[in-house]
Amino acid sequence: MVFDLTEEQRMIQEMARSFAQKEVLPKAAELDETGRYPGELVQQMGELGLMGVAVPEEYGGAGMDNICYVIAMEEIARACASSAVIMSVNNSLVCDPLLKFGTEEQKKKYLVPLASGKKLGCFGLTEPGAGSDAGSQKTTAVRNGDHYVVNGTKNFITNAPEADFCILFTMTDKEKKHKGISTFILDMKLPGVSVGKHEAKMGIKASPTASIILEDVKLPASCRLANEGDGFKIAMSTLDGGRIGIASQAIGIARASLEDALSYAKERKQFGQPIAEFQAIQWMLADMATEIDAARLLAYRAAWLKDRKARHSKESAMAKLYASEAAMRAAVKGIQIHGGYGYIKEYPAERHFRDAKITEIYEGTSEIQRLVISSALLKD
Ligand code: CAA
Repeated sequence: MVFDLTEEQRMIQEMARSFAQKEVLPKAAELDETGRYPGELVQQMGELGLMGVAVPEEYGGAGMDNICYVIAMEEIARACASSAVIMSVNNSLVCDPLLKFGTEEQKKKYLVPLASGKKLGCFGLTEPGAGSDAGSQKTTAVRNGDHYVVNGTKNFITNAPEADFCILFTMTDKEKKHKGISTFILDMKLPGVSVGKHEAKMGIKASPTASIILEDVKLPASCRLANEGDGFKIAMSTLDGGRIGIASQAIGIARASLEDALSYAKERKQFGQPIAEFQAIQWMLADMATEIDAARLLAYRAAWLKDRKARHSKESAMAKLYASEAAMRAAVKGIQIHGGYGYIKEYPAERHFRDAKITEIYEGTSEIQRLVISSALLKD
């Protein structure tokens, strides 16, 4: 077993770290404060190949592997969790299904601009009544000659207000339940598509979240991804990849909590010495570092399996479950080490706490990850 990164993986780590430290981190507090969409950072990420890391170059991506993707995600998330989730959705939930299930024509038309960062994508699965129970879709697509007529509402959609295209899930045959779900590539500018109000969130405030309202949208049949009825499996296998991205986002947030706590603990003096010299603080730092390493190894394993095109549902769920819960524990410890200063906005510790929480919720709650893991165990 080799634990060393390849030259390409080291290269993207250095590039993403340097970009994140120089360009992203200095803006993170302002982005959190104002909730401004970081359009200029998204554009730069596109130019650096970060919006389609594991997409082949012929389709506009950086042509790297999924380990490169998780490495880059961690670096961006360490600087700004909002920018990281914008990147993750475009890579994992939009480019990946287009690459896996798109026709050559669809790849040229949609994947090339999305993977190169010229366009932005979102993932329309969740509905007001279909969160954890993703199979209970109410949005309908009714075939009418060479097009479908789509009606419904998608909820809590990351990137929706800025997105050019959406990977949209709809019911084409509700009698068949989850086997009646189909996937489409929706152009967000089509008549009948509107975006609801931006959600005011606890954290990841610069990542725009809104509902998508679909009223008699005439969607060409050529926009259907794969066959009618394939939608649920497309959603699930896409989320297997997405969960690796969110695990990496959580690892980046946890690292931010640790690195900020480390430097504070070395500077802050109480009882005549830096608080880093107290064992109570050292043990918290040690736990944070150990859990971050464990989470990273789980994420790398899931990405490694994905690169080998092996089923990785259980491993992705384990990575996301552990990394997101470790990020919450690290954020709590980060605040505790800062004492009163951890509770005020002058220090980033409280932002890491607010940003970490969502990683236990989106792309499947921790409870859903435990369900995915246990059903794989019971099947084995
Ligand atoms: N890959 C391929 N196929 C899969 C699969 C996978 N990972 N998981 C399940 N399937 C297949 C099953 O084999 C089964 O196939 P058959 O019907 O042919 O037997 C079918 O799908 C149904 O499977 P289940 O019976 O397990 O389905 P379920 O209805 O019980 O749901 C679930 C399973 C795990 C709970 C699923 O609904 C789920 O993951 N829910 C969470 C939804 C979620 O993560 N939403 C995230 C929204 S996107 C987001 O959050 C983005 C963002 O903001 C950043």
